Amino acid sequence: MNSILAFYYSSIGKKVLMSLTGLFLIVFLVEHLIGNLLLFANDSGKMYEAYGDFLVSNPVIRFIEIFLFLGVIVHAILGVILWIKNRKTRPVKYKYFRLKDNSPLASRTTIWTGIVIGIFLYIHLKSFFIPSRFTSQKVSSYELVMHAFSNPWYDLFYLIALLVLGYHLRHGFQSAFQTLGLRNKTYAPFLDMLAFIFWFLIPVGFAAIPVYFFFYHQAVSTMIMGVH
Ligand code: HEM
Repeated sequence: MNSILAFYYSSIGKKVLMSLTGLFLIVFLVEHLIGNLLLFANDSGKMYEAYGDFLVSNPVIRFIEIFLFLGVIVHAILGVILWIKNRKTRPVKYKYFRLKDNSPLASRTTIWTGIVIGIFLYIHLKSFFIPSRFTSQKVSSYELVMHAFSNPWYDLFYLIALLVLGYHLRHGFQSAFQTLGLRNKTYAPFLDMLAFIFWFLIPVGFAAIPVYFFFYHQAVSTMIMGVH
């Protein structure tokens, strides 16, 4: 028990926990993206609604959700603790910025990109998660999404947040592998490729959704104007 606590209180213990929670959150993002791609099914949201209903009614999913939110909280708190600790133990400021793996710029900005993602999550959960889980009458998640993304400012906010998410994942992914001791010469090229798939394709996949609904609304408005 003592050795577990000692591990947690050490910086490396916190980093390992941060890496593991970060990787767990990425797995969620993959599942979330795959589910959200159903929005493109061109069936007026039928499959997306069915997927949403499954998430709401399945007790296993509801149970996993608890770990998801715990993961987000633990990841964020540890990030802040490590950031404060690093600042205290780094009396001399860096002279240069190098946009390389683990460069001062990438690791220093992780806290700020993390805060932006936190703000994004708050707004995102308020728009979609709360209405779909905590309202007495049945809410159509397809309509929620369609309505939210009919606002070009909301779309722009999503695109900026996803850009920040990509940057956060890019650093986070490589840093996690380093912390877990997986980044050696043999695995490095494979891990870089895997990291690229995640930090690039996940945000691009999510970004396609507001872009799609923006053009969808433009097309519908043009059609309505054409009829009148
Ligand atoms: C633009 C694309 C996105 C759409 C259309 C979307 C849509 C939704 C919807 C409808 C819900 C509530 C119903 C559900 O659980 O599926 C939800 C929940 C959630 N979203 Fe998103 N989302 C998007 C992007 C993201 C991103 C980029 C993140 C994280 C950075 C994120 C994190 C979450 C979380 C943590 C929940 C609550 C947990 C859960 O539902 O199990 N979403 N999203």
